Amino acid sequence: MRTLVLAAAVLVPITAAADDQAAAVTTPPRVEFTKEFLEDPEVVALGAEVWKRRCVFCHGRQAYPGKAPRLRPSRYEPQFVYNRVTFGFRGMPSFAHEFGERERRAVVAWVLSPDFAP
Ligand code: HEC
Repeated sequence: MRTLVLAAAVLVPITAAADDQAAAVTTPPRVEFTKEFLEDPEVVALGAEVWKRRCVFCHGRQAYPGKAPRLRPSRYEPQFVYNRVTFGFRGMPSFAHEFGERERRAVVAWVLSPDFAP
């Protein structure tokens, strides 16, 4: 619970920037994901909160069967996950208007982290 409250406090200012960024994502940017970023524990923790808030409903272990594919992180490049989250794809919604750049990048780090648990 405490982590949730902390994460919410972190998410508020970031979300305020989402509108500006949404305008910039109409053409796919090439996003750099350094090893340092992907392995930063704070980034991974933020990504885990984003995952719990929005992704679990469709991709979680308890999600209604067939709602969304079980993710297979070992097959993904960071840019692929980032693009899905940012732009959506068929049944996968875009989160560009809901999450700022840092949160979308953080959820990539979470999905690709060794601790990832759907
Ligand atoms: C409303 C349900 C829904 C939500 C919420 C959702 N997804 Fe998805 N997602 C889908 C569906 C459906 C697909 C399959 C799209 C296709 O390929 O046709 C998908 C595909 C993906 C893929 C590509 C999987 C592959 O192997 O091709 C990734 C990565 C992904 N989602 C990540 C996320 C992340 C991260 C979040 C949270 C920010 C999220 N999704 C939230 C429904 C959802």
